[in-house]
Amino acid sequence: MMQRREFLAAGTGAMTAVLLPQLSRRALASETAEYTLTAGAVPFSPLPGMNFSGLGFNGTIPGPLLRVVHGQRLRATFINQTGQGSTIHWHGMILPNKMDGSEGVTQAAVKPGGSFVYEFSPDPPGTRWYHDHVSNGLLRGLFGMIIVEDPRDMRPDAEFALVFHDVPKMPTVDAAMHGISTAPMLDPLNSPELNDMPPGDRMGDEVAFSAHCINGASYPNAKKLAVKVGQHVRLRILNANPTQTRYVRLAGHRLTVTHSDGNPLPRPVEVDALRVGVAERYDAWFEVSGPGSWLLQGLSSDPLAYEQAAVVYTPGMENAPPLSSPQSLEGVDYFTYVKAAGTTGAMPPRGAKHYDFVLDDGKYGSSRWTINGRTYPNTPRIDVRRNDLVTVRFTNKTDMDHPMHLHGHVFDVTEVDGTALARPLPKDTSLVRANEGTLSWRFRADSPPGRWLLHCHNAIHMMDGMMTEVVYTA
Ligand code: C2O
Ligand code: CU
Repeated sequence: MMQRREFLAAGTGAMTAVLLPQLSRRALASETAEYTLTAGAVPFSPLPGMNFSGLGFNGTIPGPLLRVVHGQRLRATFINQTGQGSTIHWHGMILPNKMDGSEGVTQAAVKPGGSFVYEFSPDPPGTRWYHDHVSNGLLRGLFGMIIVEDPRDMRPDAEFALVFHDVPKMPTVDAAMHGISTAPMLDPLNSPELNDMPPGDRMGDEVAFSAHCINGASYPNAKKLAVKVGQHVRLRILNANPTQTRYVRLAGHRLTVTHSDGNPLPRPVEVDALRVGVAERYDAWFEVSGPGSWLLQGLSSDPLAYEQAAVVYTPGMENAPPLSSPQSLEGVDYFTYVKAAGTTGAMPPRGAKHYDFVLDDGKYGSSRWTINGRTYPNTPRIDVRRNDLVTVRFTNKTDMDHPMHLHGHVFDVTEVDGTALARPLPKDTSLVRANEGTLSWRFRADSPPGRWLLHCHNAIHMMDGMMTEVVYTA
Protein backbone atom coordinates (compact mmCIF):
# COMPACT_ATOMS: atom_id res chain seq x y z
CA MET A 1 0.00 0.00 0.00
CA MET A 2 1.29 3.45 -0.86
CA GLN A 3 2.33 5.51 2.11
CA ARG A 4 0.73 8.90 2.68
CA ARG A 5 3.93 10.77 2.03
CA GLU A 6 4.44 9.06 -1.30
CA PHE A 7 0.95 9.72 -2.50
CA LEU A 8 1.20 13.40 -1.73
CA ALA A 9 4.56 13.57 -3.48
CA ALA A 10 3.07 11.81 -6.48
CA GLY A 11 0.35 14.40 -6.45
CA THR A 12 2.69 17.31 -6.90
CA GLY A 13 4.83 15.57 -9.53
CA ALA A 14 3.23 13.48 -12.22
CA MET A 15 0.02 15.40 -12.54
CA THR A 16 -0.04 15.86 -16.27
CA ALA A 17 -0.18 12.10 -16.68
CA VAL A 18 -3.33 11.81 -14.61
CA LEU A 19 -6.66 11.51 -16.37
CA LEU A 20 -9.33 14.03 -15.53
CA PRO A 21 -12.44 12.44 -14.07
CA GLN A 22 -15.58 11.96 -16.11
CA LEU A 23 -17.13 15.14 -14.85
CA SER A 24 -14.22 17.31 -15.87
CA ARG A 25 -14.00 15.89 -19.33
CA ARG A 26 -17.69 16.35 -19.82
CA ALA A 27 -17.56 19.86 -18.49
CA LEU A 28 -14.60 20.81 -20.62
CA ALA A 29 -16.61 19.99 -23.70
CA SER A 30 -18.52 23.22 -23.18
CA GLU A 31 -16.81 26.51 -22.53
CA THR A 32 -19.53 27.91 -20.30
CA ALA A 33 -21.12 26.11 -17.39
CA GLU A 34 -24.74 27.26 -17.10
CA TYR A 35 -26.71 27.13 -13.89
CA THR A 36 -30.01 28.56 -12.78
CA LEU A 37 -30.24 29.33 -9.08
CA THR A 38 -33.74 30.06 -7.89
CA ALA A 39 -33.91 31.30 -4.31
CA GLY A 40 -37.13 30.70 -2.45
CA ALA A 41 -38.81 29.38 0.66
CA VAL A 42 -37.68 25.96 1.84
CA PRO A 43 -39.51 24.18 4.65
CA PHE A 44 -36.43 22.57 6.15
CA SER A 45 -36.73 19.46 8.26
CA PRO A 46 -33.34 17.87 9.00
CA LEU A 47 -34.81 15.89 11.92
CA PRO A 48 -38.24 14.38 12.40
CA GLY A 49 -40.47 16.95 14.06
CA MET A 50 -38.30 19.94 13.26
CA ASN A 51 -39.62 22.52 10.85
CA PHE A 52 -37.51 25.54 10.04
CA SER A 53 -38.89 28.08 7.63
CA GLY A 54 -35.73 28.44 5.62
CA LEU A 55 -34.68 29.95 2.34
CA GLY A 56 -32.72 27.94 -0.15
CA PHE A 57 -31.44 27.74 -3.71
CA ASN A 58 -33.36 25.36 -5.97
CA GLY A 59 -35.40 24.07 -3.07
CA THR A 60 -32.56 22.74 -0.93
CA ILE A 61 -30.37 23.75 2.02
CA PRO A 62 -27.52 23.91 1.22
CA GLY A 63 -28.00 24.91 -2.42
CA PRO A 64 -26.74 22.67 -5.22
CA LEU A 65 -23.06 21.84 -5.44
CA LEU A 66 -21.73 23.75 -8.45
CA ARG A 67 -18.71 22.41 -10.32
CA VAL A 68 -16.70 24.10 -13.02
CA VAL A 69 -13.28 23.43 -14.41
CA HIS A 70 -10.73 26.20 -14.00
CA GLY A 71 -10.71 28.11 -17.28
CA GLN A 72 -14.40 27.58 -17.95
CA ARG A 73 -16.84 30.45 -17.68
CA LEU A 74 -19.77 30.33 -15.31
CA ARG A 75 -23.14 31.77 -16.17
CA ALA A 76 -25.48 31.62 -13.21
CA THR A 77 -28.96 33.01 -13.66
CA PHE A 78 -30.24 34.04 -10.26
CA ILE A 79 -33.99 34.22 -9.79
CA ASN A 80 -35.19 35.74 -6.55
CA GLN A 81 -38.41 34.26 -5.21
CA THR A 82 -37.60 34.78 -1.54
CA GLY A 83 -39.99 37.67 -1.04
CA GLN A 84 -37.08 39.83 0.12
CA GLY A 85 -34.09 41.51 -1.53
CA SER A 86 -31.22 39.14 -2.30
CA THR A 87 -27.90 38.81 -4.13
CA ILE A 88 -25.32 36.07 -4.64
CA HIS A 89 -21.80 36.67 -3.42
CA TRP A 90 -19.09 34.35 -4.77
CA HIS A 91 -16.90 33.92 -1.73
CA GLY A 92 -13.21 33.50 -2.50
CA MET A 93 -13.42 34.43 -6.18
CA ILE A 94 -11.39 37.10 -7.90
CA LEU A 95 -13.90 38.41 -10.42
CA PRO A 96 -15.17 41.62 -12.03
CA ASN A 97 -16.36 43.85 -9.20
CA LYS A 98 -19.90 44.12 -10.53
CA MET A 99 -20.25 40.31 -10.29
CA ASP A 100 -19.28 40.24 -6.58
CA GLY A 101 -22.86 40.36 -5.31
CA SER A 102 -22.29 42.83 -2.48
CA GLU A 103 -25.62 44.50 -1.92
CA GLY A 104 -25.39 48.29 -1.80
CA VAL A 105 -21.73 48.19 -2.85
CA THR A 106 -21.41 46.39 -6.18
CA GLN A 107 -25.10 46.03 -7.01
CA ALA A 108 -28.55 46.83 -5.71
CA ALA A 109 -30.42 43.94 -4.11
CA VAL A 110 -32.32 41.89 -6.66
CA LYS A 111 -35.94 42.61 -5.86
CA PRO A 112 -38.49 39.90 -5.09
CA GLY A 113 -39.53 38.43 -8.43
CA GLY A 114 -36.43 39.83 -10.13
CA SER A 115 -33.40 38.16 -11.61
CA PHE A 116 -29.72 38.80 -12.28
CA VAL A 117 -27.16 37.02 -14.41
CA TYR A 118 -23.76 36.42 -12.82
CA GLU A 119 -21.15 35.66 -15.44
CA PHE A 120 -17.41 35.33 -14.95
CA SER A 121 -14.49 32.90 -15.19
CA PRO A 122 -14.21 31.36 -11.73
CA ASP A 123 -10.73 31.98 -10.36
CA PRO A 124 -8.64 30.93 -8.51
CA PRO A 125 -9.32 27.18 -8.59
CA GLY A 126 -10.33 25.37 -5.41
CA THR A 127 -13.13 24.88 -2.91
CA ARG A 128 -15.18 28.10 -2.77
CA TRP A 129 -18.77 28.95 -1.95
CA TYR A 130 -21.64 31.21 -2.79
CA HIS A 131 -24.18 32.87 -0.53
CA ASP A 132 -26.72 35.64 -0.15
CA HIS A 133 -25.24 39.01 0.84
CA VAL A 134 -28.37 40.82 2.04
CA SER A 135 -29.77 40.82 5.59
CA ASN A 136 -30.59 37.36 6.97
CA GLY A 137 -30.58 35.26 3.76
CA LEU A 138 -27.36 33.46 4.66
CA LEU A 139 -28.64 32.69 8.16
CA ARG A 140 -31.80 31.19 6.71
CA GLY A 141 -30.07 28.88 4.24
CA LEU A 142 -29.02 30.73 1.10
CA PHE A 143 -25.58 29.18 0.63
CA GLY A 144 -23.85 26.40 -1.28
CA MET A 145 -20.44 25.14 -2.33
CA ILE A 146 -18.79 25.73 -5.69
CA ILE A 147 -15.79 23.68 -6.71
CA VAL A 148 -13.45 25.12 -9.30
CA GLU A 149 -11.55 22.03 -10.35
CA ASP A 150 -7.82 22.47 -10.60
CA PRO A 151 -6.57 20.25 -13.44
CA ARG A 152 -3.18 20.15 -11.70
CA ASP A 153 -4.59 18.44 -8.60
CA MET A 154 -3.88 14.79 -7.99
CA ARG A 155 -6.91 12.58 -8.40
CA PRO A 156 -8.48 11.10 -5.30
CA ASP A 157 -10.00 7.61 -5.35
CA ALA A 158 -13.12 9.19 -3.87
CA GLU A 159 -14.12 12.74 -3.12
CA PHE A 160 -16.83 14.22 -0.88
CA ALA A 161 -18.04 17.82 -0.68
CA LEU A 162 -19.34 18.48 2.83
CA VAL A 163 -21.14 21.60 3.96
CA PHE A 164 -21.31 21.84 7.76
CA HIS A 165 -24.26 24.05 8.65
CA ASP A 166 -26.74 24.59 11.44
CA VAL A 167 -30.29 25.70 12.01
CA PRO A 168 -30.33 28.97 13.97
CA LYS A 169 -33.04 29.87 16.44
CA MET A 170 -33.94 33.14 14.73
CA PRO A 171 -35.05 35.03 17.88
CA THR A 172 -31.56 34.50 19.33
CA VAL A 173 -30.11 36.15 16.21
CA ASP A 174 -32.02 39.30 16.99
CA ALA A 175 -31.07 39.16 20.68
CA ALA A 176 -27.41 38.58 19.80
CA MET A 177 -27.44 41.62 17.53
CA HIS A 178 -28.49 43.65 20.56
CA GLY A 179 -25.94 41.96 22.82
CA ILE A 180 -28.61 40.49 25.08
CA SER A 181 -28.78 36.87 23.96
CA THR A 182 -28.84 34.30 26.74
CA ALA A 183 -27.57 31.48 24.52
CA PRO A 184 -24.45 29.83 25.99
CA MET A 185 -21.13 29.17 24.25
CA LEU A 186 -21.02 25.62 23.01
CA ASP A 187 -17.49 25.20 21.74
CA PRO A 188 -15.88 21.86 22.54
CA LEU A 189 -14.06 21.34 25.85
CA ASN A 190 -10.52 22.63 25.82
CA SER A 191 -11.07 24.74 22.68
CA PRO A 192 -9.33 28.12 22.63
CA GLU A 193 -12.80 29.70 22.39
CA LEU A 194 -13.75 28.30 25.80
CA ASN A 195 -10.31 28.56 27.37
CA ASP A 196 -9.98 32.25 26.41
CA MET A 197 -13.26 33.19 28.05
CA PRO A 198 -12.80 35.06 31.34
CA PRO A 199 -14.77 33.32 34.11
CA GLY A 200 -18.18 34.84 34.79
CA ASP A 201 -18.15 36.71 31.48
CA ARG A 202 -21.60 37.79 30.38
CA MET A 203 -21.78 36.99 26.70
CA GLY A 204 -24.93 38.36 25.12
CA ASP A 205 -23.77 37.70 21.57
CA GLU A 206 -24.23 33.96 21.04
CA VAL A 207 -26.72 32.50 18.59
CA ALA A 208 -28.47 29.26 19.60
CA PHE A 209 -28.99 26.42 17.13
CA SER A 210 -31.72 23.82 17.06
CA ALA A 211 -29.99 21.33 14.73
CA HIS A 212 -26.54 20.67 13.34
CA CYS A 213 -26.30 19.30 9.83
CA ILE A 214 -24.01 18.04 7.12
CA ASN A 215 -25.33 18.59 3.59
CA GLY A 216 -28.89 19.21 4.73
CA ALA A 217 -29.39 16.38 7.21
CA SER A 218 -28.59 15.48 10.79
CA TYR A 219 -27.23 12.16 12.04
CA PRO A 220 -28.36 9.44 11.53
CA ASN A 221 -30.07 10.80 8.41
CA ALA A 222 -26.97 12.41 6.93
CA LYS A 223 -25.92 10.60 3.77
CA LYS A 224 -23.36 7.88 4.47
CA LEU A 225 -20.02 8.05 2.70
CA ALA A 226 -19.00 4.78 1.03
CA VAL A 227 -15.26 4.14 0.80
CA LYS A 228 -12.97 1.16 0.24
CA VAL A 229 -9.95 -0.02 2.19
CA GLY A 230 -6.76 1.68 1.01
CA GLN A 231 -8.51 4.43 -0.93
CA HIS A 232 -7.15 7.95 -0.80
CA VAL A 233 -10.18 10.10 -0.10
CA ARG A 234 -10.46 13.86 -0.50
CA LEU A 235 -12.84 15.82 1.70
CA ARG A 236 -13.81 19.36 0.78
CA ILE A 237 -15.21 20.97 3.91
CA LEU A 238 -17.03 24.28 4.35
CA ASN A 239 -18.17 25.79 7.63
CA ALA A 240 -21.36 27.64 6.72
CA ASN A 241 -22.34 28.26 10.34
CA PRO A 242 -23.02 31.99 10.72
CA THR A 243 -21.21 32.42 14.05
CA GLN A 244 -19.33 29.35 15.32
CA THR A 245 -15.96 27.80 14.59
CA ARG A 246 -16.21 24.10 13.76
CA TYR A 247 -13.79 21.38 14.78
CA VAL A 248 -14.08 18.48 12.36
CA ARG A 249 -12.73 15.03 13.14
CA LEU A 250 -12.91 11.59 11.52
CA ALA A 251 -12.68 8.79 14.07
CA GLY A 252 -9.86 6.32 13.52
CA HIS A 253 -7.97 8.46 11.00
CA ARG A 254 -5.55 11.33 10.77
CA LEU A 255 -6.26 13.97 8.11
CA THR A 256 -3.75 15.41 5.69
CA VAL A 257 -4.71 19.01 4.98
CA THR A 258 -3.70 20.25 1.51
CA HIS A 259 -5.73 23.43 0.93
CA SER A 260 -7.05 26.27 3.06
CA ASP A 261 -9.92 28.30 1.60
CA GLY A 262 -9.28 26.40 -1.63
CA ASN A 263 -5.68 27.58 -1.92
CA PRO A 264 -2.79 25.07 -1.81
CA LEU A 265 -0.92 25.09 1.50
CA PRO A 266 2.83 25.68 1.42
CA ARG A 267 3.08 22.01 2.40
CA PRO A 268 0.52 19.40 3.49
CA VAL A 269 -0.09 19.15 7.24
CA GLU A 270 -1.20 16.06 9.13
CA VAL A 271 -3.63 16.60 12.02
CA ASP A 272 -6.25 14.81 14.13
CA ALA A 273 -8.89 17.45 13.47
CA LEU A 274 -9.63 20.53 11.41
CA ARG A 275 -10.37 23.89 12.95
CA VAL A 276 -12.70 25.62 10.51
CA GLY A 277 -13.63 29.22 11.21
CA VAL A 278 -16.88 30.67 9.91
CA ALA A 279 -16.73 30.74 6.07
CA GLU A 280 -13.37 28.92 5.90
CA ARG A 281 -12.84 25.82 3.78
CA TYR A 282 -10.32 23.01 4.11
CA ASP A 283 -9.41 20.18 1.79
CA ALA A 284 -8.25 17.17 3.75
CA TRP A 285 -7.27 13.68 2.66
CA PHE A 286 -7.19 10.36 4.42
CA GLU A 287 -6.28 6.82 3.55
CA VAL A 288 -8.96 4.31 4.55
CA SER A 289 -7.18 2.34 7.26
CA GLY A 290 -9.07 -0.96 7.11
CA PRO A 291 -12.58 -2.32 7.09
CA GLY A 292 -14.85 -0.38 9.40
CA SER A 293 -17.34 2.35 10.08
CA TRP A 294 -16.40 5.73 11.52
CA LEU A 295 -18.10 9.02 12.28
CA LEU A 296 -17.02 12.22 10.62
CA GLN A 297 -18.14 14.76 13.22
CA GLY A 298 -18.41 18.43 13.95
CA LEU A 299 -17.31 18.62 17.60
CA SER A 300 -19.04 20.85 20.14
CA SER A 301 -20.27 20.70 23.70
CA ASP A 302 -23.84 21.22 22.56
CA PRO A 303 -25.86 18.18 23.67
CA LEU A 304 -27.09 18.09 20.07
CA ALA A 305 -23.55 17.94 18.71
CA TYR A 306 -23.70 14.27 17.82
CA GLU A 307 -26.25 15.23 15.20
CA GLN A 308 -23.56 16.85 13.08
CA ALA A 309 -22.05 13.62 11.87
CA ALA A 310 -21.95 11.34 8.85
CA VAL A 311 -20.93 7.69 8.70
CA VAL A 312 -17.91 6.72 6.62
CA TYR A 313 -17.96 2.98 5.93
CA THR A 314 -16.33 0.21 3.92
CA PRO A 315 -18.39 -2.42 2.06
CA GLY A 316 -20.50 -4.54 4.38
CA MET A 317 -20.01 -2.19 7.35
CA GLU A 318 -22.85 0.18 6.53
CA ASN A 319 -24.88 -0.79 9.59
CA ALA A 320 -22.05 -1.51 12.02
CA PRO A 321 -21.98 0.83 15.03
CA PRO A 322 -19.56 3.56 13.95
CA LEU A 323 -16.47 4.52 15.92
CA SER A 324 -16.85 8.09 17.20
CA SER A 325 -14.63 10.78 18.75
CA PRO A 326 -15.16 12.49 22.11
CA GLN A 327 -16.65 16.01 22.01
CA SER A 328 -13.45 17.44 23.45
CA LEU A 329 -10.15 18.78 22.17
CA GLU A 330 -8.20 17.36 25.11
CA GLY A 331 -4.98 16.01 23.58
CA VAL A 332 -6.28 16.57 20.04
CA ASP A 333 -3.76 17.81 17.50
CA TYR A 334 -5.88 20.23 15.47
CA PHE A 335 -5.03 22.44 12.48
CA THR A 336 -3.59 25.90 13.12
CA TYR A 337 -2.16 28.52 10.78
CA VAL A 338 1.18 28.27 12.58
CA LYS A 339 1.27 24.51 12.11
CA ALA A 340 0.62 24.97 8.39
CA ALA A 341 3.09 27.76 7.75
CA GLY A 342 5.83 27.42 10.37
CA THR A 343 7.38 30.37 12.20
CA THR A 344 10.41 32.57 11.94
CA GLY A 345 12.00 35.02 14.38
CA ALA A 346 11.59 38.16 12.31
CA MET A 347 8.42 40.24 12.05
CA PRO A 348 6.93 40.43 8.56
CA PRO A 349 7.80 43.65 6.71
CA ARG A 350 5.07 46.25 6.29
CA GLY A 351 3.77 47.02 2.83
CA ALA A 352 3.93 50.48 1.25
CA LYS A 353 0.37 50.80 2.52
CA HIS A 354 0.00 49.61 6.09
CA TYR A 355 -3.15 49.61 8.22
CA ASP A 356 -3.62 48.81 11.90
CA PHE A 357 -7.16 47.70 12.60
CA VAL A 358 -8.36 47.33 16.18
CA LEU A 359 -11.41 45.08 16.51
CA ASP A 360 -13.50 46.06 19.49
CA ASP A 361 -16.79 46.44 21.37
CA GLY A 362 -19.60 43.87 21.44
CA LYS A 363 -19.85 44.36 25.20
CA TYR A 364 -22.97 43.08 26.94
CA GLY A 365 -25.97 45.06 25.72
CA SER A 366 -24.10 46.63 22.82
CA SER A 367 -25.14 46.37 19.20
CA ARG A 368 -21.83 47.69 17.90
CA TRP A 369 -18.87 45.69 16.65
CA THR A 370 -16.17 48.12 15.56
CA ILE A 371 -13.00 48.66 13.56
CA ASN A 372 -10.90 51.45 15.10
CA GLY A 373 -13.90 52.50 17.18
CA ARG A 374 -16.30 52.90 14.26
CA THR A 375 -19.02 50.92 12.56
CA TYR A 376 -19.58 50.55 8.82
CA PRO A 377 -19.92 52.72 6.75
CA ASN A 378 -17.88 55.05 8.99
CA THR A 379 -14.96 52.67 9.39
CA PRO A 380 -11.53 53.59 7.95
CA ARG A 381 -11.24 52.48 4.31
CA ILE A 382 -8.25 51.09 2.54
CA ASP A 383 -7.64 53.14 -0.60
CA VAL A 384 -5.29 51.41 -3.01
CA ARG A 385 -3.76 52.01 -6.38
CA ARG A 386 -3.08 49.19 -8.78
CA ASN A 387 -0.19 47.00 -7.63
CA ASP A 388 0.16 48.54 -4.18
CA LEU A 389 1.48 46.08 -1.63
CA VAL A 390 -0.93 46.33 1.30
CA THR A 391 -0.46 45.02 4.82
CA VAL A 392 -3.16 44.97 7.48
CA ARG A 393 -2.60 44.08 11.12
CA PHE A 394 -5.63 43.20 13.22
CA THR A 395 -5.62 43.45 17.00
CA ASN A 396 -8.59 41.86 18.71
CA LYS A 397 -9.70 43.59 21.93
CA THR A 398 -12.89 41.53 22.25
CA ASP A 399 -13.59 38.17 23.87
CA MET A 400 -14.61 36.46 20.62
CA ASP A 401 -12.59 35.30 17.62
CA HIS A 402 -13.26 37.19 14.39
CA PRO A 403 -13.21 35.43 11.01
CA MET A 404 -12.04 38.39 8.92
CA HIS A 405 -12.77 38.10 5.20
CA LEU A 406 -11.72 40.12 2.15
CA HIS A 407 -13.74 40.00 -1.06
CA GLY A 408 -12.09 39.67 -4.46
CA HIS A 409 -8.57 38.84 -3.25
CA VAL A 410 -6.45 36.07 -1.85
CA PHE A 411 -4.21 37.45 0.90
CA ASP A 412 -1.27 35.86 2.65
CA VAL A 413 -1.44 35.49 6.40
CA THR A 414 2.04 36.58 7.51
CA GLU A 415 1.77 36.88 11.30
CA VAL A 416 -0.27 35.31 14.09
CA ASP A 417 -0.23 36.51 17.71
CA GLY A 418 3.13 38.23 17.33
CA THR A 419 4.79 35.34 15.52
CA ALA A 420 5.78 35.79 11.88
CA LEU A 421 4.95 32.86 9.62
CA ALA A 422 7.85 31.27 7.76
CA ARG A 423 5.79 30.62 4.64
CA PRO A 424 2.91 32.76 3.43
CA LEU A 425 -0.48 31.14 4.00
CA PRO A 426 -2.90 32.05 1.19
CA LYS A 427 -6.47 32.55 2.38
CA ASP A 428 -9.58 34.69 1.98
CA THR A 429 -10.87 34.36 5.57
CA SER A 430 -8.80 34.12 8.73
CA LEU A 431 -9.55 33.88 12.43
CA VAL A 432 -8.19 36.63 14.65
CA ARG A 433 -7.92 35.21 18.18
CA ALA A 434 -9.86 36.75 21.06
CA ASN A 435 -8.36 38.75 23.95
CA GLU A 436 -5.45 40.64 22.36
CA GLY A 437 -4.86 38.19 19.53
CA THR A 438 -3.21 39.67 16.44
CA LEU A 439 -3.01 38.60 12.82
CA SER A 440 -1.51 40.22 9.71
CA TRP A 441 -2.42 40.08 6.05
CA ARG A 442 -0.41 41.00 3.01
CA PHE A 443 -1.93 41.34 -0.45
CA ARG A 444 -1.16 42.92 -3.79
CA ALA A 445 -3.81 45.27 -5.15
CA ASP A 446 -3.98 43.53 -8.49
CA SER A 447 -7.62 42.47 -8.56
CA PRO A 448 -10.17 44.04 -10.90
CA PRO A 449 -10.81 47.63 -9.82
CA GLY A 450 -13.80 48.53 -7.69
CA ARG A 451 -15.02 48.38 -4.12
CA TRP A 452 -14.26 45.19 -2.21
CA LEU A 453 -15.77 44.51 1.19
CA LEU A 454 -13.57 43.55 4.13
CA HIS A 455 -15.58 42.26 7.09
CA CYS A 456 -16.00 39.86 9.93
CA HIS A 457 -17.91 36.83 8.66
CA ASN A 458 -19.66 36.28 11.99
CA ALA A 459 -23.12 37.33 10.75
CA ILE A 460 -23.88 39.19 13.97
CA HIS A 461 -20.63 41.16 13.93
CA MET A 462 -21.00 41.97 10.26
CA MET A 463 -24.56 43.23 10.61
CA ASP A 464 -23.48 45.21 13.68
CA GLY A 465 -20.84 47.12 11.74
CA MET A 466 -17.50 45.24 11.72
CA MET A 467 -16.91 45.93 8.05
CA THR A 468 -14.98 48.21 5.75
CA GLU A 469 -13.86 48.36 2.10
CA VAL A 470 -10.77 48.12 -0.03
CA VAL A 471 -11.30 50.74 -2.72
CA TYR A 472 -9.30 50.95 -5.94
CA THR A 473 -8.75 54.61 -6.77
CA ALA A 474 -7.90 55.82 -10.25
CU1 C2O B 1 -18.71 35.17 2.43
CU2 C2O B 1 -18.94 39.29 2.39
O1 C2O B 1 -18.79 37.21 2.37
CU1 CU C 1 -16.44 39.03 14.43
